[in-house]
Order: sequence, then structure tokens, then C-alpha cells
Amino acid sequence: MTLAWEHYFSQRALSMKASGIREFFKLTERPDIISFAGGFPGGAFFPAEMIRDQLQEILAEEASSALQYGPTEGCAPLRQYLAAKMTREGIAASSEDNILVTNGSQQGLDLLCKVLLNPGDAVLVEEPGYVGGLGAIHNYQGSFYPIAVDAEGLRTDLLERQLLALARQGKKAKLIYLVPNFQNPTGATLSLLRRVKILELAEKHDFLILEDNPYGELRYAGYPLPSMKSLDREGRVIYLGSFSKTFVPGIRLGWLLAEEALIHKMIAAKQGTDLCSNSLSQRLALACCTRGFIDDHVRSLVHRYREKRDLMLSAMERHFPGVCSWTRPQGGFFIWVTFPEPLEARDILIKALERKVAFVDGGGFYVNGRGKNTARFAFSEAGPEEISRGIETLGKILHEELERRGISEKYAGQAKKVS
Ligand SMILES: Cc1ncc(COP(=O)(O)O)c(C=O)c1O
Repeated sequence: MTLAWEHYFSQRALSMKASGIREFFKLTERPDIISFAGGFPGGAFFPAEMIRDQLQEILAEEASSALQYGPTEGCAPLRQYLAAKMTREGIAASSEDNILVTNGSQQGLDLLCKVLLNPGDAVLVEEPGYVGGLGAIHNYQGSFYPIAVDAEGLRTDLLERQLLALARQGKKAKLIYLVPNFQNPTGATLSLLRRVKILELAEKHDFLILEDNPYGELRYAGYPLPSMKSLDREGRVIYLGSFSKTFVPGIRLGWLLAEEALIHKMIAAKQGTDLCSNSLSQRLALACCTRGFIDDHVRSLVHRYREKRDLMLSAMERHFPGVCSWTRPQGGFFIWVTFPEPLEARDILIKALERKVAFVDGGGFYVNGRGKNTARFAFSEAGPEEISRGIETLGKILHEELERRGISEKYAGQAKKVS
């Protein structure tokens, strides 16, 4: 007998669905596929030997605490380390009491939506935006108000217009969700002027800012910009950090920095979810942080990812038709490609998979069915030879498609590179 599970699911769960993009990643895990699909760090860069040595030492010296349950908020020395790190990065007055250690920043996103959102609450999101963040908001039944992203990040003119439209309807936004540095999926970085403007608007219209910053330390060009949290005068900004991209995602460790009142509520929510984050991972991260290994690792990652970014950009320059446009990210993992309107990324993807190359169709990063002619390319995981070969293959497919439809002439000369 099969139970009719839909009768048992909660109202909330009925609308939950697994991310189509994550399902698609399973396809791309086949070893014969060159994948630019997953936003995964380069597995070849994982410092496995260093991790093995540190784990051996931890297990020899402090096994009884490293293998034990720990405090829900995270182990105190790691929280102290993270508070000091945040202070070094310009976030004033942060103490360990402002820090909650999470199982990856994704758990921070989920717990925040759990404690902040009532069904129907208005949430402003980047369009296109990070699927994991959008998924968490959807799971807690937030209402999306998408705001377009351009080369300088979220467009504050459109944000202001949306806030006024909400006010006219007697509504208020509760939260804005932002990835200000090297955004997933576009690679765009929010300009300083726009950071300041969003803070001003948040104060004026009284909403919270969720700043998700897993890529900020992976900068390959330009100068670091102040975090939204460091510019925050009223405690409205909730900052999410992660060890996934700067160290390894498998230890599932991130952190959240916010006002103590919110941290207390989040601790209550986290207790119901998992009691505490992985104790062994926390000891490992702490040892690698305090001994300077992670800072050294980040320095080497910046060189290695920069090479991959440059390789993918120059391969696109060589092989992609001039009618396509793409971003030139200053850091992170992603290049966002726009095909000329008649081409749909989904059709190109089907042809690409036949020739064993994968990327992600950009439509999944929109909440309203737009973006059909866009695609996300991650340069983080594939090797150099794969990047060159994969982009060359895609270039051929794109040229063939344009020719088949007889549109190459019509669109010639429209090439536009966005930096
Ligand atoms: C913008 C953004 N936020 C959060 C996450 C989740 O990261 P974590 O591994 O820390 O849960 C990701 C992962 O790709 C991401 O791109």
C-alpha cells in the first residue's frame, strides 16, 4: 500500500519543492561531462593533507570534546575568532555573543526565514538571485518582490520604486536578501553608492538586510568594498559567512553575525533543528584559522581561481559569437552569459549535453519565469583543459544555432561585454 502523503504534509510543506538546478547537478556529476554547472569549489584545491594532519592532532589531544555535543551557538573559541575576524574587516562592536555558528550559511538562511517570516511577508530579492536563498524564502512562504541586478548589483532606482509601490498599497517589505560580492549567479558586485543607498532605504522604510557573503574573500581584481554590515548604524544588517568557498564545503560550517536579540531567537530555532553544529568541524576550522592555514589557503585560491576565470573569459572571447554578452566578475565563481533573445538557454543546454558539456540555464534563478536567454557558467570546478575544450564546444554549438536560425547577420554588432 502507498500512503497518500499529500494528506499528511503540512500546508507549508505542500508548496516546498527540491531545486530543479540541484536535481540537474546529479546529471552533470558523470565523469565524462565537462561541467560548468555546479557552483562547487575546485576539488583539486582542497587541502586534504593539512586537514588530515590537523584532525589527527585534534583526535590525539581533545577527542572527548571534539566528538561530543557542543553548545548550540557554537564552540566559544571559534565564535571569539570569528568575532575578531569580523572586527578586523571593519564591523564594529562585534563580540562572540553576536555570532551563531551554523551548518553552512544555507542553514543560516533557513533559520532566519524560520524566525523572521510569516506567510505572505514581502521579501525583496535580487533578480536573478541565489536559488538556495530563494528556496529558503519560498519554504517559509515569503512573497517575492524581485529587483533587477545589473553590472553594479541590485538596481536601487527599481528598489526605491518598488518600496513606494508597496507603501501605496499599505504594505511594507520585511527583508531584502542580497549577495553583494561576486553575486551568485551573475558575478556582479554591488557598488558602494548602492550599498549606502540600500541602507538609507532600509532605515526610511524599516526593513532588514540579509547580507550573504560566501565569496567576498575570493577577489581577483579591484579593491574590497566595505560590507553592508560595517556601514550599518541601526543593527538592521544580518551577515552570513561561510567556510565552504574559502576552505571546504564538506565540513558544513558557516556563521551568522547579528544583534544579540536575534541570535537568541535563532539559537532557539537551531535547537529544534540540530541541537548544535558539527563539533569536529568546528575544532578543525578553529585550528586551521588560528594557525593561519586558511588565510594562506585563501591567498593561493585567489591566484588559482583568477587563472581559471581569465581562461574562461578569454575562451569565451575567442569562441562565443559576438552577439552573446557576458559579465567579467572581479571575484567568486560565476560568469553570467546572455544569449541573443531568440536563443533559449534550455535548447542550447540540450545540445551541449549531447556533446558532454553542461552549464546552468539561467531561468531557474528568476522567480517569475524570465531569463530564458541567460545562463550561469561556473569556472571554479573544471580543470584548465576542460575549460578551454568545453567553451570551444559551446562556441561551435552557438554558431551552429545562430546559423540554423539565420539570425547571425541580424544580430551582428550587438556584442556587449559587461564588467
Ligand atoms: C550565495 C550563496 N549563499 C549561500 C550558499 C550556501 O553555502 P554553504 O555551503 O555555506 O551552506 C551558497 C552556496 O553555493 C551561495 O552561493
